[in-house]
Amino acid sequence: MAPLKIVLYPEPVLTTLGKPVGEEEFGENLQTLIEDMFDTMYQANGVGLAAPQVGISKRIFVMDVSLEDDKSNKFAMINPEIIVQEGEQFGDEGCLSFPGIYTKIRREARTVVRFQDVFGITQELDCTDLSARCVLHETDHCDGIVFLDRMTMLKRELAKRKIKKLQNTGKWE
Ligand code: NI
Repeated sequence: MAPLKIVLYPEPVLTTLGKPVGEEEFGENLQTLIEDMFDTMYQANGVGLAAPQVGISKRIFVMDVSLEDDKSNKFAMINPEIIVQEGEQFGDEGCLSFPGIYTKIRREARTVVRFQDVFGITQELDCTDLSARCVLHETDHCDGIVFLDRMTMLKRELAKRKIKKLQNTGKWE
């Protein structure tokens, strides 16, 4: 178990299209990376973390959105692909690569994601509410899209101003 370093915006890897994980890459190293990503996410009190956020430009993310009914909602998704998205929801969103920035963001209310698990098996997950928000946010990371890109223009300008202020005072690290 080795927590990884989380990179912050505007690190270029965050805005780079992630490479698909090839069949030959499934194995022990990938399993170790995913365990390390879970550790890193839990340590940072996050509910989702994508590979680009630890400097790896690959289509991989982990998530654990705890629900009140205690149902296990812990997933590692490799090569995620959104195949259904519908409805809309507005809710506060944050990102481990944007410490201290929280803002309301519009997302679809429901999504079906197709992905490969750590063994390379293709699966589909139908999710709503917070898990849909998380899957959409993390799949965006795999596409080099950050939540700044999903903000309204006004909110984006406010967030950018806040980031600049935090950078100038050495609090963006
Ligand atoms: Ni994020």
